[in-house]
Amino acid sequence: MKFWDQFRKGFTCLAPMEGVTDIAFRQVIASAARPDIFFTEFTNVNSYSSEKGRHDALARLKFEPSEQPIVAQIWGKTPEMFTETVLAAKELGFKAVDINMGCPDRHVVATGGGSGLIRTPETAVNIIRAAKEIPNISISVKTRLGYSRIEEWRDWLSCILNEKPEALTVHLRTKKEMSKVGAHYELIPDIVALKNELSPETKLIINGDILSAVDAQKYAELGADGIMIGRGVFQNPFCFEREPQAHDRSELIGLMLYHLELYEKYDLHPYDPLKHFYKIYINNFPGASDIRAQLMQTRSIAEAREIIAKL
Ligand SMILES: Cc1cc2nc3c(=O)[nH]c(=O)nc-3n(C[C@H](O)[C@H](O)[C@H](O)COP(=O)(O)O)c2cc1C
Repeated sequence: MKFWDQFRKGFTCLAPMEGVTDIAFRQVIASAARPDIFFTEFTNVNSYSSEKGRHDALARLKFEPSEQPIVAQIWGKTPEMFTETVLAAKELGFKAVDINMGCPDRHVVATGGGSGLIRTPETAVNIIRAAKEIPNISISVKTRLGYSRIEEWRDWLSCILNEKPEALTVHLRTKKEMSKVGAHYELIPDIVALKNELSPETKLIINGDILSAVDAQKYAELGADGIMIGRGVFQNPFCFEREPQAHDRSELIGLMLYHLELYEKYDLHPYDPLKHFYKIYINNFPGASDIRAQLMQTRSIAEAREIIAKL
């Protein structure tokens, strides 16, 4: 069975998010409310060419068996490096790899990778073909509607769909729009029709401003196979609940303590990026903003725990 065929229509994915969806945070989300599929942060395909890069890539691609089904996301520009990296991912135990063709970060775009590939469709096609050279591992693509104009969507997505990826995630904005305007949900029926015409077996995943797994059904009715949630987890770490429950302060603090424990367990560092997560857990209760301000002054996990212990 193909990797993406194991999921029923209306499945949910935790979006790949650089600096966010590492091995610790994925496990926090799994313990709060599990999505059907996890994605790693993206890993550059050139990483394997240096010893240090290889070391970093292995840390990024580390996962626990309990996180399966999990997809390794990779990015870059050089087709041969994709073949190598897909093989490396397969050896690490991944059953599926996703190619990033949507990242708008200017450093990424400057290298020709991420959404830069929307401007070089031939390279994008060669990348998918190079990734597919490795047998028995699923290849999918995550992209945007176009580079600067919404009207680009049909040509660009046709180019990808003609390569028959097992899944295609569409973040319903152009690269130029970044995340500054609303997602273009009105295009879903047209994108579904194009997909059904060119590559009916490809699973279509809709992404952009979706806040809850409850919406999966709504998009399934429009023809999408699944949804992907990114920033929604910052507002509600329980957003993958199919039947939303109320969660009290102690549950949120429990998640935070679990996150601290995992950060130590996997020897993740430095400490400061961990502080960005505190607003997820210390939120929506009386006195939360004072506690967050105190947490922002901390310099170690031990100091954060001391503040939490006083609550
Ligand atoms: C902090 C952050 C990091 C991201 N890193 C990645 C990444 O590594 N790969 C990727 O394909 N998209 C990345 N994205 C984009 C998200 O996967 C997603 O497409 C985008 O946030 C829109 O979905 P949302 O509205 O549900 O957040 C990132 C987004 C954010 C906010």
